[in-house]
Amino acid sequence: EIKRRTVPEIMAYKGQKKIVCLTAYMAPIARLVDPAMDLILVGDSTAMVGYGMRDTLSITLQQMADHGAAVVNSTEQACVVIDMPFGSYQVSPQQAFENAAFMLARSGAAAVKIEGGAALAPTTQFLVERGIPVLAHVGLMPQYVNTMGGFKAQGMSDEAAERILADALAHQEAGAFAVVVEGVAEALGRRITEQLAIPTIGIGASPACDGQILVTEDILGLSGGRIPRFAKQFGDAATVIQQAAQSYADEVRNGTFPTLDHCFGVKKSANS
Ligand code: KIV
Ligand code: NA
Repeated sequence: EIKRRTVPEIMAYKGQKKIVCLTAYMAPIARLVDPAMDLILVGDSTAMVGYGMRDTLSITLQQMADHGAAVVNSTEQACVVIDMPFGSYQVSPQQAFENAAFMLARSGAAAVKIEGGAALAPTTQFLVERGIPVLAHVGLMPQYVNTMGGFKAQGMSDEAAERILADALAHQEAGAFAVVVEGVAEALGRRITEQLAIPTIGIGASPACDGQILVTEDILGLSGGRIPRFAKQFGDAATVIQQAAQSYADEVRNGTFPTLDHCFGVKKSANS
């Protein structure tokens, strides 16, 4: 019997083995990536990747909860974590708890992820002390696109790097079980990993990170446009889908499909 990875198990990977993570938003991808994953993130990147929005700000709590349920219902091995969407946790620790509890109750996920620096550490502590494990997310935080003025690598100056290290330490102190480090200078990703007792999960961070995450559509060639520098394509699902759609279209147009084999109420003898 396959047992689902737990948050304490993921924490214990630090210094032992890499934590392998991908995103999933819907059942088909979740089901297919699950056997190879330690952790699946129901990322608010679905706003852009799944819904074609220009940033991640507009996805709602209800949408995230629905995607979380789809992913939990179609997986059995990976630890499932859901992103708290923009506006659902920044007001106060109390607001964060109500919304995180809603998401976990609706989906069955094990934990939530929140973006934010040291200012959000009290929120992490409030959630963790009340039974909701928190994955912190520092460095390039897509929900801060408007304050950053775009999606840009962070921590390039010494001062900025110190601030991001302090952010990660603050979330560790507050009880986060791990921290996603996105889009930072490599030396900073390595330094955070060395300094923290909890695992770091990198994306555009450093090979030294305790784990790695990518957006599944990016590794499959399904993102449509440009693939970010930190991603790598490991397969070509786009060609498979295009060819299947074209073959189907050809067969419908030329009458090859459907046949009587695909119809109801047809006698076996008449079929052959
Ligand atoms: O939303 C997302 O997919 C993420 C990961 C890329 C870390 O936050
Ligand atoms: Na996200």
